[in-house]
Parts: sequence; structure tokens; C-alpha cells
Amino acid sequence: MSIRVYVPGDMSALSVGADDVARALTAEAAARKADIRIVRNGTRGMLWLEPMVEVETPEGRVAYGPVTAADVKSLFESDFLNGGKHQLSLGLTEAIPYFAKQERLTFARVGLTDPVSLDDYRAHGGYEGLTQALAMDGAAIVAAVTESGLRGRGGAAFPAGIKWKTVHGAAGHTKYIVCNADEGDSGTFSDRMIMEGDPFVLIEGMTIAGVAVGATAGYIYVRSEYPHAEKALLRAIDFARAAGYLGESVLGSGKKFELHVRRAAGAYICGEETALLESLEGKRGVVRFKPPLPALQGLFGKPTVVNNVITLASVPIILARGVQYYKDFGMGRSRGTLPFQLTGNIKHGGLVEKAFGLTLRELLYDFGGGSATGRPIRAVQIGGPLGAYVPESQFDMPVDYEAFAAKGAMVGHGGMVVFDDTVDMAKMARYAMEFCAIESCGKCTPCRIGSTRGVEVMDKIIAGEARDANVTLLRDLSETMIAGSLCALGGMTPFPVMSALDHFPEDFGLTPKKISEAA
Ligand SMILES: Cc1cc2nc3c(=O)[nH]c(=O)nc-3n(C[C@H](O)[C@H](O)[C@H](O)COP(=O)(O)O)c2cc1C
Ligand code: SF4
Repeated sequence: MSIRVYVPGDMSALSVGADDVARALTAEAAARKADIRIVRNGTRGMLWLEPMVEVETPEGRVAYGPVTAADVKSLFESDFLNGGKHQLSLGLTEAIPYFAKQERLTFARVGLTDPVSLDDYRAHGGYEGLTQALAMDGAAIVAAVTESGLRGRGGAAFPAGIKWKTVHGAAGHTKYIVCNADEGDSGTFSDRMIMEGDPFVLIEGMTIAGVAVGATAGYIYVRSEYPHAEKALLRAIDFARAAGYLGESVLGSGKKFELHVRRAAGAYICGEETALLESLEGKRGVVRFKPPLPALQGLFGKPTVVNNVITLASVPIILARGVQYYKDFGMGRSRGTLPFQLTGNIKHGGLVEKAFGLTLRELLYDFGGGSATGRPIRAVQIGGPLGAYVPESQFDMPVDYEAFAAKGAMVGHGGMVVFDDTVDMAKMARYAMEFCAIESCGKCTPCRIGSTRGVEVMDKIIAGEARDANVTLLRDLSETMIAGSLCALGGMTPFPVMSALDHFPEDFGLTPKKISEAA
């Protein structure tokens, strides 16, 4: 029987030569007449080890990494097909501490299975959630999702079940499920990783959502820079449809659900749910006024659930294992797990799925291993470009939506961009404001004009021009943007700016005393 050798096909592995490694393995195996079968799996999320090659042995999967094509010959010479020792040996994958310490619920199959094999998906618990859901009525599914405590993983952390209930109760026969796969936040890649590594779990989650609220069609709005995710989704949808998991009568239930993939327009604002709906309808991505809520008048004016990839991909396990199982993970009102993404100046960058409640320090040091440069970590931007810069003094804060909000920070999509003590926080704050000026959809004045004026004022502060007066002006401007912007782009950009000013005044040429006087 062939020995299975896993070489990730995930973009993170491809970018560092995984295809070359796969080709070299195939050629070397042929030359040695070794019977191997290469599976292009998703990544296990330990990105500093990519390309990480795994070999199936009777003891479990043995990992080697990071492997280059030049290492392949010596791997064969070291009998790696039987788990032999090599300088790149990492031991059993599941025993690598970074991986072993995680709680993989949503990402349980990523890296384990062949992403587009329906048989593999089913062999690892796939479609158990949908089977349960089809035996329930829509209201009971909505109640289960509400009871699980699942909150939106796209940014705003709105309870998924409440949104579903509104759509379930809305009048009309035509309803939609829209999956927000635009993943525009800096330092995030969990949506991509799951779409490439386990597309069926998203398809299953969307189908359950459709059955629950009475929607007959779903759209996945995929970031244009994610061609591999798009390809994986299209293939998986075809397989699911052919096997009766999608179509006129899902698994013979009489319930229709069809799924479509749309390539996103390539603007940060198109991740905002109403701009996304405009874009899906073929228009320019401009934010809509609310009300009406998308849940009542969304895509093409019909009741629509808009949820993030991870929100939807977390639903199957809730139905399959039960509400209590999922709810038992987490703390307070933050239930379940979150895939944290460690990026920037971090030694061990990658994906860590853990229950809410662990501290930032645990994430940054126990998992991340500290900064890549070996210097002290000075700040972390969490929750994308609209998230605050969190200083070292707050690293013992537990990751929990409410604990973060109390400190003016946000968990958002779980992306963490790490900076060491050489960072210039004034430059970072200016960048946050400039980002808003570039990405503003232009619909409202505080954001469109305010962000441009904000950059100008910050340039004056940095240049030392009437510093205190300009800090006062910047604070006034920030208050106006927070209070007067139509959406969170203009409404939250002041948070990274103010956090930098409050926690790192010295980078702006200010002393802490002067800042409090200015405030
Ligand atoms: C400027 C802006 C960009 C956003 N980008 C994304 C995004 O890329 N992906 C996402 O899921 N949500 C994004 N959101 C949040 C969405 O508007 C919306 O809250 C989310 O898709 C709802 O899904 P959830 O409840 O499952 O989180 C963005 C919001 C704003 C204001
Ligand atoms: S805050 Fe900015 S991005 Fe949002 S609606 Fe206003 S102009 Fe558009």
C-alpha cells in the first residue's frame, strides 16, 4: 500500500516552495521505486515550519520542516517514509507543543484531511451537523445557535442566533445567506486557511444556516487575492452538489439550497456588510444607511444573513456535538473558540485556535515565542486596522470581548500584528489615519474629509508644530469621527490613533503630563 505523504497546498506553504517540494518528492520516489501518495493538505497553521511535510506512520503522522526541494534526497536517505530521524525532524505532528496545546474545534480537520475529498470530510465527522439540523425545525436550529453563545467572528461580535432569528421571522419566500470572505483586516488569514484547508465545513455551515432561516441560496464573497480559496470552494461545491448535499432537495429533505461564489472587488470597505451587498449586486461598494437591516432587506432587497466565514464554519460542530459541548469552551459572554492569528514581528507566526480567556501574554510568548528579532514586544495591534495598539502593560488581559472593550480595544477577527521596541508609534498612528483616508467610501463627511485632515494634523504633531494645540485638534477631530461616521471605518479609525497617543506619547514628542493637559 502507498505511504501517504502530506505536502500542504495552502498559500502560506506554496509561497515558500511547497510545489517544488512536492515535485522533488514525486521524482525521488519514482527514482527509488518507493510507493508514495502525495496529498496536498491544508496547513496545520505552524507557518514558520512551512513547507511542513508529514508522513503517515503506524504511530501517527511524523513531521519534517521547513523542507526545501534540496532536502528531499537526504530525507529519503534518512528513511523518512518510516518516520526516520533527520535534521528537520519535528516528531509526531500532534505532539508539537504549539499544536498540542490548541483546542481545535472549527479547524479540527484543517491539515488533517484532503480539503476537496468528500469521503475524507465525512470520515472525519463532516456533515454530521447538517444531518442533525435536517431532523430539526428551523426555529430549533436558530435556538441552538443562540444558546451556544456563538458571536460573529467578522468583527462586531454580534450574536449569530439573534441575527438568524430576525431572518427566520422575516416575511417572504426568497431569503439569502451571504458569507463575508473578504478578510481585509491586517494580520488575518483564518478565513483563507479554512476555505483552502476545509471548504466543506463552510459549505455545511451555510447549508445549515439556509435550512434554519428558510433561505434557498447562498453567496460566498471571496477576497480577490485568494485564488486558491476560490478554486477549493468551487471544487468542493461541485462535489457537494453531485452528492446531493446542495441542490433542489438537500439530502432528499425537500429543502432547496444552492451556493454561488463571487470574487470580491478588492476594497477594504467591501468587507463592511452593506457595501458588500452593494458590490454583490454589481454596484460600487458604498455603505448603505441602516435601517433597514440586511436581515430584513439585504441582498436584492430580501432578508439576508450576512456572516463571516469563521462564524458559519463554527456552526456544524455546534449541531454535531451539541450546544453544551461548544458552550463549555470560553469565558463570560465569549463562548467557544477563536482562531488567533499571530503575525508581524513574531518568532512563531501562525494560527492558534483556543477557547476565549487565555491572556495575550500566553499567546505572544507561550505560543508565539516572543518577537522574531528577539527584542521586547512593545505593542500589538489587535482586530485589524481599526483596532487599538495594546501596550505591554495590558498583556495580562484575558482575550474576551468584554474585557477588551473595557480597555478600548477589540478582539475583532482575532488578527494580531506584533511590534518590537524599535517601532515608531507615531508613524503607526499616522498610517492608521492614512489607511482610512485611502479606503474611505466617501459617503459621509467625518470620514471622507476628517481622515485627510487627520493625516495633516498628525504630520504637524510629528514635525513639532504647535504640538499641544494640534493634539487637542486631533482629539476633537477623533470625537467627531467616532460620533458622526456612518460606519466603523470612520467611526473606529480614531481608536488606533488615540491608543498610540495615549500609550506612547513619547513617540509624538510629548510627555505623559502634556498629553493629559492637552486632553
Ligand atoms: C470597514 C469594515 C470592513 C469589514 N471587513 C470585514 C471583512 O473583511 N470580513 C468580515 O467578516 N467582516 C468584515 N466587517 C464586518 C461586517 O460589516 C459584518 O459585521 C460581518 O460580516 C458580520 O458577520 P459576523 O456577524 O459573522 O461577524 C467589516 C466592517 C467594516 C466596518
Ligand atoms: S465612515 Fe467612511 S467608509 Fe463608512 S460610510 Fe462613512 S465615508 Fe464610507
